[in-house]
Amino acid sequence: MRDFTMENLTEIVHEEYVSKTSDPRLREIMGSLVNHLHAFVKDIQLTEAEWFEAVQFLTATGQMCDEKRQEFILLSDTLGVSMLVDAINHPRSGAGTENTVLGPFYVSGAPDLPMGSNIVKKDSGGTLAFVRGKVTDQDDNPIDGAVLDVWQASVRGFYDVQDPEVPQWNLRGKFTTGPDGKYCLATELPGFYPVPTDGPVGKMLNACGRHAMRPGHLHFVITADGYDRLTTHIFTAGDEYLESDAVFATKSSLVGEYQACEDEALAKEYGLQVPFQLLDFDFGLMRT
Ligand SMILES: [Fe+2]
Repeated sequence: MRDFTMENLTEIVHEEYVSKTSDPRLREIMGSLVNHLHAFVKDIQLTEAEWFEAVQFLTATGQMCDEKRQEFILLSDTLGVSMLVDAINHPRSGAGTENTVLGPFYVSGAPDLPMGSNIVKKDSGGTLAFVRGKVTDQDDNPIDGAVLDVWQASVRGFYDVQDPEVPQWNLRGKFTTGPDGKYCLATELPGFYPVPTDGPVGKMLNACGRHAMRPGHLHFVITADGYDRLTTHIFTAGDEYLESDAVFATKSSLVGEYQACEDEALAKEYGLQVPFQLLDFDFGLMRT
């Protein structure tokens, strides 16, 4: 029989997975995982106490998850892994709107709303905003039938799923473009907010001296047949956390400049009251 030692263990474990895994992609993933994980443990000379703390941390991360709370996505976001995966999977090479993180607060099944609807279901004292633009392909042709799934935090810094004071689907909705590719919606200016700090990720940020804040932003997932799904944000220009986003998701091309607007005709058309903040922001999708 052979001895398992510090010197040969990585190679043996690696071979055990690589030689027996039939799926080629899984074989590649497991082989690389074993190599990197073993190298990491050796690099930091992991103590038993630290190993057990890591087990407890991952256990607590799982226990913090339910249908409304996704602590593992938050962990991935705050370690910069989500942005790395995004960059690998959605190379934009200068064309189309840039991607950024999905974040842990996406909820599928938001209501389909008529274009121009107000997604504020409960007024939390925020500043009225009207957001409009168009969805185009890389040749600037409008895209018919693009679905914009929108969600955001309130001015108080909470998503509906975090705030028992607001109804379900507050500050969420889906809008579908017509042949002109245009979209518009009324909402309130999104507040900056801390990612949840009451779980293990919050403890990690605190232990590492990092703040938990994200600059104010609107979330969008935009889908259209024949185009790469776009997961992105519009960040609010001037937000004090634009330079230090806790999840490393900011990009200058995704910063939107709201302008004070007193356009009575526009206000009347969409049932708004002047003055409000107006944001023009176009999205470019890439063909698949
Ligand atoms: Fe967010």
